[in-house]
Amino acid sequence: MKPARIAPSLLAADFARLAEEVQPIEREIDMLHLDVMDGHFVPNISFGLPVIASLRRATSVYFDCHLMTTNPDIYLENFKEAGADLVTVHIEVVPRPTDVAKEARQIGLDFGLVLSPPTPFAAVEPFMELTDLLLVMSVHPGFGGQSFMPEVLPKVEAARKFIDSHALSVDIQIDGGITTQTAPLARQAGADVFVAGTAIFRDPDPLGAVRRLRNAIETVE
Ligand code: DX5
Ligand code: ZN
Repeated sequence: MKPARIAPSLLAADFARLAEEVQPIEREIDMLHLDVMDGHFVPNISFGLPVIASLRRATSVYFDCHLMTTNPDIYLENFKEAGADLVTVHIEVVPRPTDVAKEARQIGLDFGLVLSPPTPFAAVEPFMELTDLLLVMSVHPGFGGQSFMPEVLPKVEAARKFIDSHALSVDIQIDGGITTQTAPLARQAGADVFVAGTAIFRDPDPLGAVRRLRNAIETVE
């Protein structure tokens, strides 16, 4: 398996001090997870393009943009311009993502698909060759601070099996309720990229929290 990667979710940061929140941890993280919510696909509104563009000027870390919006396809170029490196799109919103995946790559974005907890792996299976990353959500999308849903672990296992048996290099990301307790379970099931909001930005020592999370995951290996 590939080395574990850590993707802190900015949703749990202090929005009045975004640059100061990111700078102390940026050298020890693998990507920054940016949860874009439109108040339509999910019952919450977070932040969007101008915030991402401002933050781009403050850090060179890889920007992983998780789009919880109803029409992600029409904003791909805007996300690229704002400084996104990867966009992930919910399969529940774009059930036939072939065109959007191609367009994202043409623009120069990495592309990923997302499964909400009730959606089975079968929904994305036909499109795995078009994706760089598969995000398996371990909470219902919309809010930070929820409890990890262990019932999604068999889905992570199914994805891992499919990816390995087809010799694909798709990363499996897990997002929601990730802590030093739950991350090892997701690692055992086959996850490679660990999103954590509350466990990192709400810790009094976010850099220490990144290190503790990485250590907890590495104990599984
Ligand atoms: C929820 C978001 C998550 C969220 C995770 O819709 O996709 O990325 O920020 O937050 P925690 O780590 O607090 O569960
Ligand atoms: Zn997310």
